[in-house]
Amino acid sequence: MARKKFIAGNWKMNTTVEEACALAKGVVDTVGNVSDVDIAVCPPYTNLSAVYEIIKNSNVKLGAQDVHWEAKGAYTGKVSCAMLKSVGVTYVIVGHSEQRQYFGETDATVNKKVKAVLAAGLLPIICVGETLEERKGGKMDAVIERQVRGAFEGLSVEDTLKCTIAYEPVWAIGTGETATPKQANDAHVFIRGIIFKLYGDETAGAMRIQYGGSMKPDNAKDLLGQKDVDGGLIGGAALKATDFAGIVRPV
Ligand code: PGA
Repeated sequence: MARKKFIAGNWKMNTTVEEACALAKGVVDTVGNVSDVDIAVCPPYTNLSAVYEIIKNSNVKLGAQDVHWEAKGAYTGKVSCAMLKSVGVTYVIVGHSEQRQYFGETDATVNKKVKAVLAAGLLPIICVGETLEERKGGKMDAVIERQVRGAFEGLSVEDTLKCTIAYEPVWAIGTGETATPKQANDAHVFIRGIIFKLYGDETAGAMRIQYGGSMKPDNAKDLLGQKDVDGGLIGGAALKATDFAGIVRPV
């Protein structure tokens, strides 16, 4: 089965509400009618509602950058799945390396978040990837396998099929350093192999695996042309509508 490409923009901690609206308009104007690629933008929490109003009649979907796994209560600073759903969110990024690196995200909290997202009827984008130290130390495969197994622990086939995985080598995020198309594809094949071991052929074949890490219009075509690269999770280049559009429609 052919996997439909999926390009998501991770705006990280960028954009005021005015900037977010301008960017969202630019995305709708350039790629809002695209239907052969799934597209999402993931603005900061404060801009979700405003961006939703702009994209809601287009093919661009709304994503959030994180979520808390609890349904509600005394968790100052946190946002629940129901809250995200109530403002039009479809996708939720879980386990981004910046969350793992700076905010104490672990494989166990990733798993709790993935389960909460699925239980709410939302779709997780699960980030995995090795640091440069881990790659150089020959630990890359073990790290990725631990992250993937951790994220999917206890998930049914049905739920697994609702997930997207984003392979984001930490050394390539925001550094201008990109994995070569072969490095990316090799990692994707490895990740698909883990899903195969856990869930079998059909699920592994259907799983979309995005690449993330300095993807830009001028390297997107080569990366997205790889057999096992099913899309991209775009940081820096998602902050300019024309660059984002150049990744959705690489030339
Ligand atoms: P980048 O970020 O495209 O700026 O490298 C990707 C990401 O962290 O999702």
